[in-house]
Amino acid sequence: MLKILVIHGPNLNLLGEREPDIYGHLTLKDVNQKINDFAAENKTEIKIFQSNHEGAIIDFLHTNRKWAHGIVINPGALTHYSYALRDALTGIQLPAVEVHLSDIHNREEFRKISVIKEVCIHQISGKGFNSYLEGLKFIMNYLDNTK
Ligand code: DQA
Repeated sequence: MLKILVIHGPNLNLLGEREPDIYGHLTLKDVNQKINDFAAENKTEIKIFQSNHEGAIIDFLHTNRKWAHGIVINPGALTHYSYALRDALTGIQLPAVEVHLSDIHNREEFRKISVIKEVCIHQISGKGFNSYLEGLKFIMNYLDNTK
């Protein structure tokens, strides 16, 4: 059975109340329900984690590096500057898909830069909660094809 880590970075715990015009009206609980349903339909085991702390996310990656086959990660603002997260992703050598609810390429200039893009196999942005589901689909296909 495929095992995937799904990670939400800083401020994503406030989904639903945080700038809903940009990030939508679903709460993190709603989004996680959709992720869980999708994983169950596709017979994939997942572990979901959210933290507002860079180090906690890195610790979670380290702890689960032998359990997981792949990663779907929305690093929030860490996307734009966290070389520590980038190094963690490179270091654990698991395929990762970077996802964003909003279209980071059509917002402020600083959001157009992702320091983790190069160490991920794919980036999906601007599709709301569907970015996560597409990210899961992508990593599932990728892992099926590399078995
Ligand atoms: C985000 C985009 C980031 O720029 C922002 O800092 C977030 C959320 C998104 O899902 O659209 O926190 O990753």
